[in-house]
Amino acid sequence: MYTKKKQHNTKQNKTFPDPEPHLPPLMKRESKFERKHVHNATELKLLLATLLLLCSVATLLQFIPLRFTNISPSNLHLCISSVSQQPPPPFTSHSTLSPSSSSNTPLSTPSSTQLLPNGTIKRAFIPYGSAAYNFITMGAYRGGTNTFAIVGLSSKPLHVYGKPTYECEWIPFSSPKPIITMGYKIIPDIWGYDHVYTAVVVNCTFNHTIINGDNNGGKLVLYASTSGAGDTNFNLTDRIEVLQEAPNTLDVSLFVSEPKYDYFYCGSPLYGDLSPQRVREWITYHVWLFGPRSHFVIYDAGGVHEEVLEVLKPWMELGFVTLQDIRDQERFDGYLHNQFMVVNDCLHRYKFMAKWMFFFDVDEYIYVPPNNTIKTVVDSLSKYDQFIFNMMPMNNKICLYEDYGKTCRKQTYVISYKIRESIQSGLKKTHVD
Ligand SMILES: *[C@@H]1O[C@H](CO)[C@@H](O)[C@H](O)[C@H]1NC(C)=O
Ligand SMILES: *[C@@H]1O[C@H](CO)[C@@H](O)[C@H](O)[C@H]1NC(C)=O
Ligand SMILES: *[C@@H]1O[C@H](CO)[C@@H](O)[C@H](O)[C@H]1NC(C)=O
Ligand SMILES: *[C@@H]1O[C@H](CO)[C@@H](O)[C@H](O)[C@H]1NC(C)=O
Ligand SMILES: *[C@@H]1O[C@H](CO)[C@@H](O)[C@H](O)[C@H]1NC(C)=O
Repeated sequence: MYTKKKQHNTKQNKTFPDPEPHLPPLMKRESKFERKHVHNATELKLLLATLLLLCSVATLLQFIPLRFTNISPSNLHLCISSVSQQPPPPFTSHSTLSPSSSSNTPLSTPSSTQLLPNGTIKRAFIPYGSAAYNFITMGAYRGGTNTFAIVGLSSKPLHVYGKPTYECEWIPFSSPKPIITMGYKIIPDIWGYDHVYTAVVVNCTFNHTIINGDNNGGKLVLYASTSGAGDTNFNLTDRIEVLQEAPNTLDVSLFVSEPKYDYFYCGSPLYGDLSPQRVREWITYHVWLFGPRSHFVIYDAGGVHEEVLEVLKPWMELGFVTLQDIRDQERFDGYLHNQFMVVNDCLHRYKFMAKWMFFFDVDEYIYVPPNNTIKTVVDSLSKYDQFIFNMMPMNNKICLYEDYGKTCRKQTYVISYKIRESIQSGLKKTHVD
C-alpha cells in the first residue's frame, strides 16, 4: 500500500497569517481580548433589542380587539409552523414574514404544511439537489464476444443502504432491434474504506454468443437505476451511452491470440511529493526484472510533477511506460484517490494485452529468490489465475545516508519477495480487490 501523505494536507494545517505583525506579543493578546469583548457586547445588544420587541408585541396584544386574538391552538400551530418551518425563499425579502402578509395568507405554501380534517398537521419534506452522483464512468470494455465491463464510481450510501440495479442494452447500428441484459455489479471495496464514492464494476453479459457479430457496429447503453434508494417514491434511471463500436472494428481474434506482453504493471494513483530519484530507481529495476516483453501503466493523480515526468520520459519513448492523467477523479471523494476504480479500469482495459498483470505500488519492489527469475516463478504458478505476494519491510541499512531516519523509518518501503504458495485455493477470480 502506498501510504505517503498528501502534501497539501500539511499546508492546510499552517497557522494563519499574523493579523497584527507590528504589535509586540503582549499587546496582541490584549487586542484579541478586546475584540472578543466587543463581539460579546454586540450580541448582548441584539438580545436586549429582541427582548424589548417581544415585550412591546405582548403589550400591544392586550389592546387588540377580541375577535383578532381569538385564535384557536391549532391555528396558532399553523401560523408558527408556516412561518418558521418554511425554507427561506431565496429572492424574496423579509416582508413575507411580516404580520400583515402572514395573516392574509397564512397557508400560501400549502405543500409545506397542511391542516387535515381530523385536526392533525401534515408536515412535508421537500428534497433539494442531490448529494452524490448515481454513476460516474471511467471506462467500458469488451471482455469477450458477448460480455462487457463498465468501470466507474457511484454514491456509496446508495450501495451500502440501497439496492441500485443495472441493465445493459446493445443497440446495433444496422438493425432496429436492440437487446437487453441484466448488469451485475461488483463492489471492489469489501472492507468499507470508501468515502462519498465507491468503485463499481458492472458486468453485462448477453445471452447471445456474439454481440456485433455482423461487425456493422453498435453501441452499449448502461441503465443505472436507484431502485428506490435515496427516495422510495422514485426509481430514477440514468441512461448512459458507455461504449461505441464503429463498423468493422471488432476483432474477436484479440480474445484468443497470444498477448503482446508477458508482464503488465497496473499502478496505483500517484500523488504527493514523489521523489524523482526513487521513481527512476523503481522503474529501472522493474524494467530490468520484467524484461523486454513488459509494460507499465502509471496513473498521475497529481504526483507526477515535472521532475518525475523527466525520469519517466525515456521509458515512455522506449514504449515501456504509458502515463495516464487521472487528476480529474480528485473531484470525487473516494478511498486513496479512487484506487479501486483505477486498478479495475486498468485490468479491464489491458487484460488482453498481457499474460500476467501485476498490481503493486511504486514504493514496493518485487524480489525473486536467488537462482530464480520472474519467469521461473510465474511458470511454477501457471495453473493458478491469481497469486499474492508475501510482503516484507526493506532492510533500512540499504537506504541512502541522507534518507536515514526519514524515508526508512516513516515510509512503507516494502519488498514483495516470495510467492506465497500456500495461498492456492479460492483464487479463481478475475476482478481485483
Ligand atoms: C388524518 O387524516 C388523514 C387524511 O385525511 C389520514 O391520512 C391520517 O391517517 C389521519 N390521521 C390519523 C392519526 O388518523
Ligand atoms: C462477466 O462475468 C462473467 C461471469 O463471471 C465472466 O465470464 C465475464 O468474463 C465477465 N465479463 C467481463 C467483461 O469481465
Ligand atoms: C438466456 O438463456 C437461457 C438458456 O437458453 C434462458 O433460460 C434465459 O431465459 C435467457 N435469458 C435471457 C435474459 O434471455
Ligand atoms: C427500477 O427501474 C429499472 C429499470 O426500468 C428496473 O429494472 C428495476 O427493477 C426498477 N426497480 C424497482 C425497485 O422497481
Ligand atoms: C544458485 O546456483 C548456483 C550455481 O548453480 C549455486 O552454486 C548456488 O548455491 C545457488 N544458490 C541458491 C541459493 O540456491
